[in-house]
Amino acid sequence: MDRQEIIKKTELFVKKTLSEDSTGHDWWHIHRVRNLAKRIAREEGADIFLVELAALLHDIGDYKFFKGDEEAGEEKVRQWLSSLEIPSLFIDKIVGITSQISFMHTLPDKDKWKNKKNSSTPTISKELMAVTDADRLDAMGAIGIARAFTYGGFFNRPIYDPATKPSKSITKEEYKITEAPSINHFYEKLLKLKDMMYTKLGRKMAKRRHRFLNLYLKQFFKEWKGKM
Ligand code: ADP
Ligand code: NI
Repeated sequence: MDRQEIIKKTELFVKKTLSEDSTGHDWWHIHRVRNLAKRIAREEGADIFLVELAALLHDIGDYKFFKGDEEAGEEKVRQWLSSLEIPSLFIDKIVGITSQISFMHTLPDKDKWKNKKNSSTPTISKELMAVTDADRLDAMGAIGIARAFTYGGFFNRPIYDPATKPSKSITKEEYKITEAPSINHFYEKLLKLKDMMYTKLGRKMAKRRHRFLNLYLKQFFKEWKGKM
C-alpha cells in the first residue's frame, strides 16, 4: 500500500470512528490539527508522513472513549496501523506520539509513586512536537473558546460560577473528573498552553491566540459585572 493510500484509508477510519462518538471530539478538530501539524512539521524538518498519520489518529485512542483506560486507546491505534501492514518501527513511532500528546499527561499525579509510566522522561521527537503544538493551538484562541463551551455544554456545566474557583494546581485525577464551570478551564489549561509550546512557529501562533484568550476573559468579566 502506498503512503497516499494509507493516509486516505486512515482518514476514512477516523471519520467513521469519530462520527460514532458523542463526547465532543469532532472531525473538524482533526482536520485543523492535521493541517497545522503539517505546516509546523515542514518548518521543523519533521517527517510529514508520520506527522500526518499521528495527527489523524491522535484522538482515536483518547482515554475518554475507553472509560479512562489509556492502554485500550493505544491498542486501538496499534491495531489499525497493523491492519495496514505498516512496518512495526513506524507503528511504534506513531503510537509513541498519540500516547504522549495529551495535556492531561503533563499534570502531576495525585500519588506520583503509583505511576510507573510517567516516571521516566520520554524522548520528544520533532514529529511529537509538531502534532502536540498543533493540538494545543486548537485549544486556544477563538476556536479554543468555542471548543471549551461546547465541551462544557455537552456535560451540562455552567459557563461561570463565582463560587467555584479554578484549581491552582490541578492533578491528573482532578482534571479527569472535574465538573467545574467552563471558564475555570481557561485557568486550569488554556492559559497555560502558551508556555508549553515546543516549536518556534507554535510559540509564535500561541502568543497571538493567548492574547485573544485574555482579551475575551477581560470582556467576559466586564459584561458579567454589567460594566460594559
Ligand atoms: P486533552 O486530550 O488535552 O485532555 P480534551 O480532549 O480533554 O483535551 O479536550 C477537548 C476540548 O475540550 C479541548 O478544546 C479542551 O480545551 C476542552 N475541554 C476539556 N476539558 C474541559 C473542561 N473541563 N471544560 C471545558 N472545556 C474542556
Ligand atoms: Ni485533539
